[in-house]
Amino acid sequence: MMQNNFYITTPIYYPSGEPHMGHAYSSILADVFARFERNNNKKVFFLTGTDEHGLKIQSAAEKKGLPPLIYCDKISLIFKDLTKKLNLSNDDFIRTTEQRHHKSVSDLWNKLVKSGDIYLSKYKGWYSVSDEAYYNNDEISEKNGKKYSTFSGSEVEWVEEDSFFFKLSAWQQKLLDFYDNNKKFILPISRRNEVVNFVKSGLKDLSVSRTSFTWGIKVPENDKHVIYVWLDALTNYLSALNFPNTKDNLYKNFWPASLHVIGKDILRFHAIYWPAFLLAAKIKPPSRIFGHGWILSGDEKMSKSKGNILDPVEIIDKYGIDELRYYLMKEVSHGSDGSISLKSLTNCINSDLANNYGNLCQRIFSFVKNNCNSKVTKNNEVSESDIKLINETEKITKNLRDFMNDQNLNHYIKSVINISFLTNKYINDEEPWKLKKSNVIKMNNILHLSFEQIVKISILLNPIIPIATSKVLDALQVSPKLRNLSFLDGKKILPDKIIINDLKILFKKLDV
Ligand code: MSP
Repeated sequence: MMQNNFYITTPIYYPSGEPHMGHAYSSILADVFARFERNNNKKVFFLTGTDEHGLKIQSAAEKKGLPPLIYCDKISLIFKDLTKKLNLSNDDFIRTTEQRHHKSVSDLWNKLVKSGDIYLSKYKGWYSVSDEAYYNNDEISEKNGKKYSTFSGSEVEWVEEDSFFFKLSAWQQKLLDFYDNNKKFILPISRRNEVVNFVKSGLKDLSVSRTSFTWGIKVPENDKHVIYVWLDALTNYLSALNFPNTKDNLYKNFWPASLHVIGKDILRFHAIYWPAFLLAAKIKPPSRIFGHGWILSGDEKMSKSKGNILDPVEIIDKYGIDELRYYLMKEVSHGSDGSISLKSLTNCINSDLANNYGNLCQRIFSFVKNNCNSKVTKNNEVSESDIKLINETEKITKNLRDFMNDQNLNHYIKSVINISFLTNKYINDEEPWKLKKSNVIKMNNILHLSFEQIVKISILLNPIIPIATSKVLDALQVSPKLRNLSFLDGKKILPDKIIINDLKILFKKLDV
């Protein structure tokens, strides 16, 4: 894949219920990386979708008294609507019930049969329908006569049925070599260690077909078996690029994927099974799996089964989508869990968006409108405090691409907000309003530098709060061609003479 192309995916969501904040989090996170890389002048393909097969979905449909496909059509649409509500910039939305996906899964299956990695046997062991995952004996605990996975806490049942197996055990050493040769294949590093230790402790062959239900993609030439829903689901990342047509431009340009964004609960599937399937089928594995932490409500994972859900749609309607995006991205730190609440949402909006970035924009725009006839012209004088602000800003921006390359969004946001803080401080110290009569030239220079700072901050925050930052860049009449990170390489954005349009209030301060 050319380095200038960037293929990023979200997990595909189970339509077993309506979307919640955890889903919104995975999606927004991926969207921020997609938007950043577009601004970084890369050609981006951003994929999301729904994972519609398996017993979990079949049972959800039965509970509603609907045929599975009709049920999936309904709920998948809700997930698709959510992409609009979250302001996602996805290029495609894939459903695993689509024909293009069936073709791709069957082809991958055939490749695994051909390479000798699949054999027929009988599965005897624990299975969790909620996780759609198999568990070993040593991963099971018992409570009130019921068995649970110690890994996920989900209930498991004993399953015995004919099944095809994938020779995962044969890939143990090759996987370890692969992790060794690709040190950043799994991030954050703590997750990588978890996976490496698990693989080192020994891999068993993996059951990859089921015979006790029918809702899935049939094993080619053996329709008693449906393909294991995770083998089916993971393949979506290939299907959307028109695999198995490897001559297709999408496939040629975008495979291997640059980044699969996932939650830590589905790390094993992505960091162990997926590269093993691909290596066996002689397809290059993706470059990076980023496993984010969970959104917690109190100390617990927010999830449908726990009934502790904050509805993203309600929050967006009340507070705004930029506000929710910013809050989730800032609050849930790099790969760790984060507890969210309405109180901390309000504090975050007030401190960073209303008082810091919003205030910076508003104060300069309204001053220039009211006192300078909406025009600012700079001359070439540069004061010591100008140089200080420019240097401090450069020192911070130098690291930003590296932060994003490592999905370290938290450091990235803190750095950009710090530039906004420093710019507000510069304005407080320089007091341009006092120079209106005494030194108009200096006043203009201060205002011009403030606008340059505002443009940089807006471009840098654009992946996170696209609506507000676009309003600011529109008001400064910045051409769409310049709304990218070229300024980090020295490209000038604003002309010496700026004429501004009005800027309406960006973020309202909320009552605490
Ligand atoms: N269908 C599988 C993924 C297949 S990808 C080939 C699946 N679906 S899911 O709907 O259960 O979860 C999708 C994503 O949402 C996962 O990355 C999961 O981590 C994330 N979240 C679900 N609840 C979450 C939180 N409370 N917090 C953050 N994200 C969590 O797994």
